[in-house]
Amino acid sequence: MNLWDKMAGIFGEDKGREEIPKGIADNVLIAFPPMIELIRKNFPIMKGRWALDFGCGSGRFSKKLHELGFWVTGLDISSEMISAARHYLPQEVKLITGSTDQIPEGRTFDLVAASMVFQFIREIDISLRAIDRLMKPTGILIFSVFNPPFVANLLKAGMLFKNFNSVNFPTRGLMELVKGTRIPVYLRRAEEYSGLLTCLGYEKIFEAAPPFTEEFLAKYPVPFPTRDPEFLILGFQKK
Ligand SMILES: C[S@@+](CC[C@H](N)C(=O)[O-])C[C@H]1O[C@@H](n2cnc3c(N)ncnc32)[C@H](O)[C@@H]1O
Repeated sequence: MNLWDKMAGIFGEDKGREEIPKGIADNVLIAFPPMIELIRKNFPIMKGRWALDFGCGSGRFSKKLHELGFWVTGLDISSEMISAARHYLPQEVKLITGSTDQIPEGRTFDLVAASMVFQFIREIDISLRAIDRLMKPTGILIFSVFNPPFVANLLKAGMLFKNFNSVNFPTRGLMELVKGTRIPVYLRRAEEYSGLLTCLGYEKIFEAAPPFTEEFLAKYPVPFPTRDPEFLILGFQKK
């Protein structure tokens, strides 16, 4: 069983389909909008373009991509996440459990999105190379990850994250979203991702760290410190 299989309940739980589950409201309402805005800006025509949602989880971002008009493939290492996504998404969205090796030979993508995935991958250079092999010329990679200062604040407050190598400048440690399930986390700053992707022939086109808004906190009060943004969002284009 994959560690993420145990998490499918949190990410997949979706009463009535329209309501945003509390556990993912921050992702959906704070991180998704700038990612979608960047996609809209870069794809005046989305209909018929190919998008890969790498680490699609229960399929929330895949659904947005599908609604924008992309042909969407969702990929995830967790079979439980994929089965939650299958319940949530229309049949036209293709879903694959496993690695990029399972993607049919010859399929390439105009857009690869990875929402809150890369910080859970230790050998990120290998994953980025695998993604690059699937990218069409001038394709766009857009992703969100934990903003390191946000994690530092939670470590100081003794919440959610544990056993990090440093409290002020954390890079490696564990996340315990569900009691007893500890997921390794690898925090990287924007410069580190830029360095890796520049070597693969990409140019940075976007960086944002959207703050918690008063409106969001009024509707979804959270117990953790919110002075630093939770998400770091980066966009790159293959040159
Ligand atoms: C925090 S969830 C995010 C899910 C979804 N992208 C979203 O934003 O709602 C992280 C997801 O990444 C997946 N994941 C972790 N490592 C992966 C890898 N090496 N390849 C593909 N998926 C991976 C997990 O199974 C999990 O579903």
